Amino acid sequence: MLSARTIYGEVFGNDEASGLFCSIAAGGEARGGWENGKIAALVPGSQAGLAAKIARHGADEDKHGRIFAALLRKRGLEPVAVPPDADYTMRLEAAGTGLAHSRLRRGEELTEAGIVTCLAHSRVTGQRASEQMRALRRHAGDRPGIARAVRVISADEDHHLACCHEELLRLGGPVPAQPSHA
Ligand SMILES: [Fe+2]
Ligand SMILES: [Fe+2]
Repeated sequence: MLSARTIYGEVFGNDEASGLFCSIAAGGEARGGWENGKIAALVPGSQAGLAAKIARHGADEDKHGRIFAALLRKRGLEPVAVPPDADYTMRLEAAGTGLAHSRLRRGEELTEAGIVTCLAHSRVTGQRASEQMRALRRHAGDRPGIARAVRVISADEDHHLACCHEELLRLGGPVPAQPSHA
């Protein structure tokens, strides 16, 4: 029967599957690092605290990319090309989730609506990452190298998810009272 345990067992028990899995993960993490770095630089100066949190998120994603690249190397594998169907970050962008890379490359400061769009994107991708890492933690227990890497990433992803959630709640806080014209 197909279960998460048997799927992850096959992924980590097979060089080809492992190479593809780690290549997809490394690419997605590196892309998350690039996006968050860009977003942090475009957050207005009035939101410096938020910019620092997003920059930190980007640095963590870059680190995750390096961790998956190291898992590939340790196994003596080269990164492989990610098939478009499996490139979840590109698929999200194509579906209009988050801000397009062309918008981020333009270098224009983000409006509050733009910031909310980015945080909503991070909230969704963060939840996926957090759940995937928890599943990996459960099913990679007997492979010490992988389990250690996954524990580090999993703790970061839980933190990213909590941060995004908190920032969205903060931005959606009480509506300011309308000025009275009486
Ligand atoms: Fe990550
Ligand atoms: Fe993350």
